[in-house]
Amino acid sequence: MKSIRDVNFKGRKVLLRVDFNVPTDDNKNITDDTRMVEALPTIKKLLSDGASIIIMAHFGRPKKGGFEPEFTLQPVAKHLEKLIARPVKFTQELLGTGVPEQMARDLKEGEVMLLDNIRFYPEETKGGEELARQLAAMGDCYINDAFGAAHREHSSTAVIARFFPNDKYFGFLMENEVSNLEKLMHNPPRPFTAIIGGSKVSSKIGILENMIDKVDNMIIIGGMRYTFTKALGGKIGNSICEDDKLDLARDLMRRMDEKGVKYYLPVDSVIGDKFSNDANTQIVPSGAVPDGWESMDCGPESCKAIRDIIMNSKTILWNGPAGVFELSTFAKGTREIATYVAEACKQGAFAAVGGGDSVAAVKQMGIADQMSYVSTGGGAMLEYLEGKDLPGIKAIKD
Ligand code: 3PG
Repeated sequence: MKSIRDVNFKGRKVLLRVDFNVPTDDNKNITDDTRMVEALPTIKKLLSDGASIIIMAHFGRPKKGGFEPEFTLQPVAKHLEKLIARPVKFTQELLGTGVPEQMARDLKEGEVMLLDNIRFYPEETKGGEELARQLAAMGDCYINDAFGAAHREHSSTAVIARFFPNDKYFGFLMENEVSNLEKLMHNPPRPFTAIIGGSKVSSKIGILENMIDKVDNMIIIGGMRYTFTKALGGKIGNSICEDDKLDLARDLMRRMDEKGVKYYLPVDSVIGDKFSNDANTQIVPSGAVPDGWESMDCGPESCKAIRDIIMNSKTILWNGPAGVFELSTFAKGTREIATYVAEACKQGAFAAVGGGDSVAAVKQMGIADQMSYVSTGGGAMLEYLEGKDLPGIKAIKD
Protein backbone atom coordinates (compact mmCIF):
# COMPACT_ATOMS: atom_id res chain seq x y z
CA MET A 1 0.00 0.00 0.00
CA LYS A 2 1.30 3.43 -0.89
CA SER A 3 0.62 5.77 1.98
CA ILE A 4 0.63 9.53 2.17
CA ARG A 5 2.16 9.31 5.63
CA ASP A 6 5.73 9.62 4.43
CA VAL A 7 5.16 12.20 1.73
CA ASN A 8 5.18 15.97 2.15
CA PHE A 9 2.67 17.60 -0.18
CA LYS A 10 3.76 21.19 0.40
CA GLY A 11 3.00 23.40 -2.59
CA ARG A 12 1.34 20.58 -4.48
CA LYS A 13 -2.09 20.59 -6.09
CA VAL A 14 -3.63 17.33 -4.95
CA LEU A 15 -6.53 15.63 -6.73
CA LEU A 16 -8.35 13.84 -3.93
CA ARG A 17 -11.17 11.36 -4.61
CA VAL A 18 -13.43 10.86 -1.59
CA ASP A 19 -16.76 9.15 -1.02
CA PHE A 20 -19.08 11.90 0.20
CA ASN A 21 -22.16 9.95 -0.89
CA VAL A 22 -23.87 10.73 2.41
CA PRO A 23 -27.53 10.25 3.32
CA THR A 24 -29.69 13.39 3.33
CA ASP A 25 -33.26 14.18 4.34
CA ASP A 26 -35.91 15.77 2.08
CA ASN A 27 -34.45 19.21 2.76
CA LYS A 28 -30.96 18.06 1.78
CA ASN A 29 -29.71 18.14 5.35
CA ILE A 30 -26.99 15.56 5.86
CA THR A 31 -28.31 12.95 8.27
CA ASP A 32 -25.05 11.04 8.74
CA ASP A 33 -21.69 12.63 7.96
CA THR A 34 -19.52 9.66 8.97
CA ARG A 35 -17.99 9.32 5.52
CA MET A 36 -16.97 12.97 5.56
CA VAL A 37 -15.61 12.85 9.09
CA GLU A 38 -13.61 9.74 8.25
CA ALA A 39 -11.98 11.55 5.31
CA LEU A 40 -10.81 14.43 7.52
CA PRO A 41 -7.45 12.94 8.58
CA THR A 42 -6.32 12.91 4.95
CA ILE A 43 -7.63 16.42 4.25
CA LYS A 44 -6.04 17.77 7.42
CA LYS A 45 -2.70 16.13 6.69
CA LEU A 46 -2.65 17.71 3.21
CA LEU A 47 -3.58 21.12 4.59
CA SER A 48 -1.01 20.96 7.32
CA ASP A 49 1.62 20.07 4.72
CA GLY A 50 0.63 23.20 2.78
CA ALA A 51 -1.02 21.52 -0.21
CA SER A 52 -4.05 22.77 -2.11
CA ILE A 53 -6.79 20.21 -2.66
CA ILE A 54 -9.19 19.58 -5.52
CA ILE A 55 -11.81 17.20 -4.18
CA MET A 56 -13.78 14.89 -6.47
CA ALA A 57 -16.86 13.07 -5.20
CA HIS A 58 -20.17 11.63 -6.34
CA PHE A 59 -23.63 11.93 -4.87
CA GLY A 60 -26.42 9.50 -5.73
CA ARG A 61 -26.88 8.17 -9.22
CA PRO A 62 -27.77 11.04 -11.58
CA LYS A 63 -28.64 9.63 -14.99
CA LYS A 64 -29.56 12.53 -17.26
CA GLY A 65 -26.06 13.75 -18.09
CA GLY A 66 -25.25 17.29 -16.98
CA PHE A 67 -26.21 19.27 -13.91
CA GLU A 68 -29.25 18.10 -11.91
CA PRO A 69 -30.19 20.22 -8.88
CA GLU A 70 -31.26 17.27 -6.74
CA PHE A 71 -27.80 15.73 -7.05
CA THR A 72 -25.64 18.78 -6.48
CA LEU A 73 -22.87 18.53 -3.89
CA GLN A 74 -23.55 22.07 -2.68
CA PRO A 75 -24.92 20.94 0.75
CA VAL A 76 -21.84 18.77 1.11
CA ALA A 77 -19.55 21.73 0.31
CA LYS A 78 -21.28 23.78 3.02
CA HIS A 79 -20.92 20.98 5.55
CA LEU A 80 -17.29 20.42 4.66
CA GLU A 81 -16.59 24.10 5.40
CA LYS A 82 -17.85 23.54 8.93
CA LEU A 83 -15.83 20.37 9.37
CA ILE A 84 -12.54 21.86 8.25
CA ALA A 85 -13.27 25.38 9.52
CA ARG A 86 -12.19 27.05 6.31
CA PRO A 87 -13.87 28.02 3.04
CA VAL A 88 -14.49 25.41 0.38
CA LYS A 89 -14.53 26.82 -3.13
CA PHE A 90 -17.41 25.35 -5.06
CA THR A 91 -19.08 25.90 -8.41
CA GLN A 92 -22.01 24.19 -10.06
CA GLU A 93 -20.43 24.95 -13.44
CA LEU A 94 -19.10 21.84 -15.09
CA LEU A 95 -15.75 21.05 -16.63
CA GLY A 96 -15.53 22.38 -20.14
CA THR A 97 -17.04 25.75 -19.20
CA GLY A 98 -13.62 26.83 -18.01
CA VAL A 99 -14.98 27.82 -14.58
CA PRO A 100 -13.79 24.88 -12.45
CA GLU A 101 -10.59 24.76 -14.48
CA GLN A 102 -9.83 28.40 -13.66
CA MET A 103 -10.76 27.86 -10.02
CA ALA A 104 -8.25 24.99 -9.87
CA ARG A 105 -5.54 27.11 -11.51
CA ASP A 106 -6.13 29.91 -8.98
CA LEU A 107 -6.08 27.60 -5.97
CA LYS A 108 -3.45 28.62 -3.45
CA GLU A 109 -1.63 26.76 -0.71
CA GLY A 110 -4.03 25.66 2.02
CA GLU A 111 -7.11 26.17 -0.18
CA VAL A 112 -9.74 23.55 -0.90
CA MET A 113 -12.17 23.23 -3.76
CA LEU A 114 -14.88 20.68 -4.39
CA LEU A 115 -16.03 19.82 -7.89
CA ASP A 116 -19.75 19.28 -8.23
CA ASN A 117 -21.02 15.72 -8.56
CA ILE A 118 -18.55 13.86 -10.74
CA ARG A 119 -21.42 11.71 -12.00
CA PHE A 120 -22.88 14.69 -13.85
CA TYR A 121 -20.43 13.56 -16.54
CA PRO A 122 -21.84 10.41 -18.17
CA GLU A 123 -18.26 9.33 -18.93
CA GLU A 124 -17.48 8.94 -15.23
CA THR A 125 -19.34 5.68 -14.64
CA LYS A 126 -18.11 4.32 -17.98
CA GLY A 127 -14.54 4.86 -16.86
CA GLY A 128 -13.94 7.29 -19.72
CA GLU A 129 -10.30 8.16 -20.26
CA GLU A 130 -10.98 11.63 -21.65
CA LEU A 131 -12.72 12.74 -18.45
CA ALA A 132 -9.90 11.22 -16.41
CA ARG A 133 -7.43 13.21 -18.53
CA GLN A 134 -9.39 16.45 -17.98
CA LEU A 135 -9.40 15.85 -14.24
CA ALA A 136 -5.74 14.88 -14.14
CA ALA A 137 -4.80 18.08 -15.95
CA MET A 138 -6.02 20.13 -12.97
CA GLY A 139 -3.65 18.71 -10.37
CA ASP A 140 -0.21 17.24 -10.02
CA CYS A 141 -0.81 14.08 -8.00
CA TYR A 142 -3.71 11.77 -7.11
CA ILE A 143 -4.93 10.37 -3.80
CA ASN A 144 -7.79 7.91 -3.57
CA ASP A 145 -9.56 7.95 -0.21
CA ALA A 146 -12.94 6.79 -1.52
CA PHE A 147 -13.13 3.27 -0.15
CA GLY A 148 -16.92 3.28 -0.52
CA ALA A 149 -16.51 3.67 -4.29
CA ALA A 150 -13.40 1.50 -4.68
CA HIS A 151 -15.44 -1.27 -6.31
CA ARG A 152 -16.28 1.08 -9.20
CA GLU A 153 -13.96 1.31 -12.17
CA HIS A 154 -14.82 4.93 -12.87
CA SER A 155 -12.81 7.81 -14.34
CA SER A 156 -12.19 9.47 -10.98
CA THR A 157 -11.81 6.31 -8.87
CA ALA A 158 -9.49 4.26 -11.05
CA VAL A 159 -8.73 5.49 -14.59
CA ILE A 160 -7.28 8.83 -13.44
CA ALA A 161 -4.50 6.95 -11.61
CA ARG A 162 -2.96 6.07 -15.00
CA PHE A 163 -1.97 9.71 -15.38
CA PHE A 164 0.11 9.66 -12.19
CA PRO A 165 2.15 6.45 -12.39
CA ASN A 166 4.65 7.70 -9.83
CA ASP A 167 2.44 10.03 -7.86
CA LYS A 168 -0.67 8.12 -6.76
CA TYR A 169 -1.51 7.21 -3.19
CA PHE A 170 -4.08 5.82 -0.81
CA GLY A 171 -5.48 8.22 1.75
CA PHE A 172 -5.69 7.34 5.44
CA LEU A 173 -9.31 6.19 5.27
CA MET A 174 -8.54 3.78 2.46
CA GLU A 175 -5.47 2.52 4.27
CA ASN A 176 -7.45 1.96 7.45
CA GLU A 177 -10.27 0.10 5.68
CA VAL A 178 -7.89 -2.21 3.85
CA SER A 179 -5.72 -2.98 6.86
CA ASN A 180 -8.80 -3.84 8.95
CA LEU A 181 -10.36 -6.00 6.27
CA GLU A 182 -7.05 -7.77 5.76
CA LYS A 183 -7.19 -8.81 9.43
CA LEU A 184 -10.25 -10.87 8.55
CA MET A 185 -8.72 -12.36 5.43
CA HIS A 186 -5.37 -13.57 6.79
CA ASN A 187 -4.81 -15.59 9.96
CA PRO A 188 -7.58 -14.07 12.07
CA PRO A 189 -7.56 -15.08 15.75
CA ARG A 190 -9.97 -17.99 16.19
CA PRO A 191 -12.77 -18.78 16.58
CA PHE A 192 -13.78 -16.54 13.69
CA THR A 193 -17.53 -15.95 13.33
CA ALA A 194 -19.27 -14.34 10.39
CA ILE A 195 -22.76 -13.00 10.99
CA ILE A 196 -24.33 -12.49 7.60
CA GLY A 197 -27.81 -11.06 7.22
CA GLY A 198 -29.97 -8.95 4.96
CA SER A 199 -33.00 -9.72 2.91
CA LYS A 200 -31.59 -11.67 -0.03
CA VAL A 201 -29.26 -14.65 -0.33
CA SER A 202 -28.56 -13.56 -3.90
CA SER A 203 -26.80 -10.37 -2.75
CA LYS A 204 -24.67 -12.27 -0.23
CA ILE A 205 -23.67 -15.36 -2.25
CA GLY A 206 -20.15 -14.07 -2.89
CA ILE A 207 -19.38 -13.26 0.73
CA LEU A 208 -20.93 -16.52 1.99
CA GLU A 209 -18.89 -18.54 -0.48
CA ASN A 210 -15.62 -16.77 0.26
CA MET A 211 -16.13 -16.85 4.02
CA ILE A 212 -16.76 -20.62 4.09
CA ASP A 213 -13.02 -21.06 3.62
CA LYS A 214 -12.15 -18.67 6.42
CA VAL A 215 -14.59 -18.89 9.32
CA ASP A 216 -15.29 -21.36 12.10
CA ASN A 217 -18.91 -20.26 12.60
CA MET A 218 -21.41 -18.80 10.18
CA ILE A 219 -24.53 -17.20 11.62
CA ILE A 220 -27.13 -16.67 8.91
CA ILE A 221 -29.79 -14.14 9.84
CA GLY A 222 -32.19 -11.68 8.22
CA GLY A 223 -34.67 -12.37 5.44
CA MET A 224 -32.15 -14.52 3.62
CA ARG A 225 -32.30 -17.19 6.28
CA TYR A 226 -35.81 -18.30 5.24
CA THR A 227 -34.43 -19.57 1.96
CA PHE A 228 -32.19 -21.83 4.06
CA THR A 229 -35.05 -22.79 6.40
CA LYS A 230 -37.25 -23.70 3.44
CA ALA A 231 -34.38 -25.62 1.84
CA LEU A 232 -34.26 -27.69 5.04
CA GLY A 233 -37.98 -28.45 4.71
CA GLY A 234 -39.26 -25.80 7.13
CA LYS A 235 -42.61 -24.05 6.77
CA ILE A 236 -41.97 -20.34 6.31
CA GLY A 237 -45.48 -18.94 5.71
CA ASN A 238 -45.26 -15.68 3.81
CA SER A 239 -41.64 -14.99 4.80
CA ILE A 240 -39.33 -13.64 2.13
CA CYS A 241 -37.72 -16.45 0.14
CA GLU A 242 -35.82 -16.85 -3.11
CA ASP A 243 -37.13 -20.13 -4.49
CA ASP A 244 -34.52 -20.14 -7.23
CA LYS A 245 -31.80 -20.17 -4.56
CA LEU A 246 -33.00 -23.24 -2.63
CA ASP A 247 -30.45 -25.51 -4.32
CA LEU A 248 -27.73 -22.95 -3.69
CA ALA A 249 -28.68 -22.81 -0.01
CA ARG A 250 -28.49 -26.62 0.19
CA ASP A 251 -25.13 -26.57 -1.56
CA LEU A 252 -23.75 -23.90 0.80
CA MET A 253 -24.88 -25.91 3.84
CA ARG A 254 -23.33 -29.08 2.39
CA ARG A 255 -20.04 -27.25 1.79
CA MET A 256 -20.05 -25.83 5.31
CA ASP A 257 -20.58 -29.35 6.68
CA GLU A 258 -17.71 -30.65 4.56
CA LYS A 259 -15.38 -27.88 5.70
CA GLY A 260 -16.35 -28.23 9.35
CA VAL A 261 -17.88 -24.75 9.50
CA LYS A 262 -20.61 -24.65 12.12
CA TYR A 263 -23.55 -22.80 10.66
CA TYR A 264 -26.36 -21.44 12.73
CA LEU A 265 -29.87 -20.54 11.62
CA PRO A 266 -32.12 -18.86 14.21
CA VAL A 267 -34.40 -21.41 15.87
CA ASP A 268 -37.27 -19.05 16.60
CA SER A 269 -38.80 -16.11 14.81
CA VAL A 270 -40.84 -13.03 15.56
CA ILE A 271 -43.63 -13.16 13.02
CA GLY A 272 -46.12 -10.48 12.03
CA ASP A 273 -49.42 -10.53 10.16
CA LYS A 274 -48.41 -7.48 8.09
CA PHE A 275 -45.30 -5.56 7.15
CA SER A 276 -45.90 -2.74 9.58
CA ASN A 277 -45.00 -1.55 13.06
CA ASP A 278 -48.56 -2.15 14.26
CA ALA A 279 -48.68 -5.74 13.02
CA ASN A 280 -49.90 -8.41 15.41
CA THR A 281 -46.87 -10.45 16.42
CA GLN A 282 -46.07 -13.84 17.90
CA ILE A 283 -42.98 -15.94 18.46
CA VAL A 284 -42.87 -19.34 16.76
CA PRO A 285 -40.24 -21.94 15.86
CA SER A 286 -38.50 -20.78 12.67
CA GLY A 287 -39.66 -23.72 10.56
CA ALA A 288 -43.30 -23.42 11.64
CA VAL A 289 -44.51 -20.07 10.39
CA PRO A 290 -48.27 -20.22 9.67
CA ASP A 291 -49.64 -19.12 6.30
CA GLY A 292 -50.59 -15.45 6.27
CA TRP A 293 -47.76 -14.63 8.68
CA GLU A 294 -44.32 -13.39 7.84
CA SER A 295 -41.19 -13.89 9.87
CA MET A 296 -39.51 -10.52 10.45
CA ASP A 297 -36.96 -10.92 13.24
CA CYS A 298 -35.17 -13.58 15.21
CA GLY A 299 -36.69 -14.61 18.51
CA PRO A 300 -35.32 -14.72 22.07
CA GLU A 301 -34.00 -18.30 21.93
CA SER A 302 -32.05 -17.46 18.81
CA CYS A 303 -30.65 -14.32 20.42
CA LYS A 304 -29.39 -16.37 23.37
CA ALA A 305 -27.68 -18.89 21.11
CA ILE A 306 -26.19 -16.16 18.91
CA ARG A 307 -24.86 -14.40 21.99
CA ASP A 308 -23.05 -17.57 23.09
CA ILE A 309 -21.37 -17.95 19.72
CA ILE A 310 -20.38 -14.29 19.58
CA MET A 311 -19.02 -14.24 23.12
CA ASN A 312 -16.85 -17.25 22.30
CA SER A 313 -15.38 -15.64 19.20
CA LYS A 314 -12.08 -13.84 18.83
CA THR A 315 -12.79 -12.43 15.39
CA ILE A 316 -16.22 -11.28 14.21
CA LEU A 317 -17.50 -10.02 10.90
CA TRP A 318 -21.04 -8.65 10.93
CA ASN A 319 -22.76 -7.65 7.72
CA GLY A 320 -26.54 -7.36 7.51
CA PRO A 321 -29.46 -7.04 9.93
CA ALA A 322 -31.25 -9.85 11.77
CA GLY A 323 -34.72 -8.66 10.87
CA VAL A 324 -36.69 -5.77 9.43
CA PHE A 325 -34.59 -3.21 11.23
CA GLU A 326 -36.36 -0.22 9.70
CA LEU A 327 -39.54 -1.21 11.59
CA SER A 328 -38.98 -0.70 15.33
CA THR A 329 -41.28 -3.63 16.19
CA PHE A 330 -38.84 -5.93 14.43
CA ALA A 331 -35.52 -4.26 15.25
CA LYS A 332 -34.83 -6.07 18.51
CA GLY A 333 -32.78 -8.95 17.09
CA THR A 334 -30.46 -6.59 15.23
CA ARG A 335 -30.07 -4.36 18.28
CA GLU A 336 -29.33 -7.37 20.48
CA ILE A 337 -26.63 -8.57 18.11
CA ALA A 338 -25.07 -5.09 18.15
CA THR A 339 -24.89 -5.31 21.94
CA TYR A 340 -23.30 -8.77 21.89
CA VAL A 341 -20.67 -7.68 19.38
CA ALA A 342 -19.83 -4.68 21.56
CA GLU A 343 -19.55 -6.99 24.58
CA ALA A 344 -17.23 -9.31 22.69
CA CYS A 345 -15.04 -6.36 21.73
CA LYS A 346 -14.79 -5.36 25.40
CA GLN A 347 -13.53 -8.88 26.02
CA GLY A 348 -10.81 -8.36 23.41
CA ALA A 349 -12.37 -9.72 20.25
CA PHE A 350 -11.78 -7.95 16.92
CA ALA A 351 -15.08 -7.07 15.23
CA ALA A 352 -15.62 -5.50 11.84
CA VAL A 353 -19.08 -4.19 11.03
CA GLY A 354 -20.34 -3.20 7.59
CA GLY A 355 -23.52 -2.90 5.56
CA GLY A 356 -26.24 -0.25 5.81
CA ASP A 357 -28.53 -1.56 8.57
CA SER A 358 -25.85 -3.15 10.76
CA VAL A 359 -23.93 0.11 10.71
CA ALA A 360 -27.15 2.09 11.29
CA ALA A 361 -27.89 -0.12 14.32
CA VAL A 362 -24.56 0.45 16.05
CA LYS A 363 -24.77 4.18 15.31
CA GLN A 364 -28.36 4.62 16.49
CA MET A 365 -27.46 2.79 19.68
CA GLY A 366 -24.42 5.01 20.19
CA ILE A 367 -22.06 2.04 20.30
CA ALA A 368 -20.24 2.39 16.97
CA ASP A 369 -17.08 3.39 18.83
CA GLN A 370 -17.23 0.14 20.79
CA MET A 371 -16.71 -1.87 17.60
CA SER A 372 -13.12 -2.50 16.51
CA TYR A 373 -13.95 -1.09 13.13
CA VAL A 374 -17.01 0.12 11.23
CA SER A 375 -16.60 0.23 7.46
CA THR A 376 -17.60 3.26 5.38
CA GLY A 377 -18.13 0.97 2.42
CA GLY A 378 -21.27 -1.00 1.63
CA GLY A 379 -20.82 -2.70 -1.72
CA ALA A 380 -17.07 -2.09 -1.59
CA MET A 381 -16.69 -3.96 1.70
CA LEU A 382 -18.78 -6.84 0.41
CA GLU A 383 -16.75 -7.14 -2.78
CA TYR A 384 -13.50 -6.94 -0.85
CA LEU A 385 -14.64 -9.78 1.38
CA GLU A 386 -15.76 -11.74 -1.66
CA GLY A 387 -12.08 -11.79 -2.50
CA LYS A 388 -12.34 -9.46 -5.50
CA ASP A 389 -9.63 -7.07 -6.60
CA LEU A 390 -11.28 -3.65 -6.25
CA PRO A 391 -10.47 -1.39 -9.24
CA GLY A 392 -9.91 1.68 -7.02
CA ILE A 393 -7.32 -0.21 -4.99
CA LYS A 394 -5.74 -1.99 -7.93
CA ALA A 395 -5.26 1.30 -9.80
CA ILE A 396 -3.05 2.62 -7.00
CA LYS A 397 -1.16 -0.62 -6.37
CA ASP A 398 -0.31 -1.41 -10.02
C1 3PG B 1 -22.05 3.78 -1.76
O1 3PG B 1 -22.85 4.59 -1.28
O2 3PG B 1 -22.07 2.55 -1.48
C2 3PG B 1 -20.92 4.29 -2.59
O3 3PG B 1 -20.84 5.66 -2.56
C3 3PG B 1 -21.04 3.78 -4.01
O4 3PG B 1 -22.20 4.28 -4.62
P1 3PG B 1 -22.78 3.57 -5.91
O5 3PG B 1 -23.31 2.23 -5.46
O6 3PG B 1 -23.85 4.48 -6.44
O7 3PG B 1 -21.65 3.38 -6.87
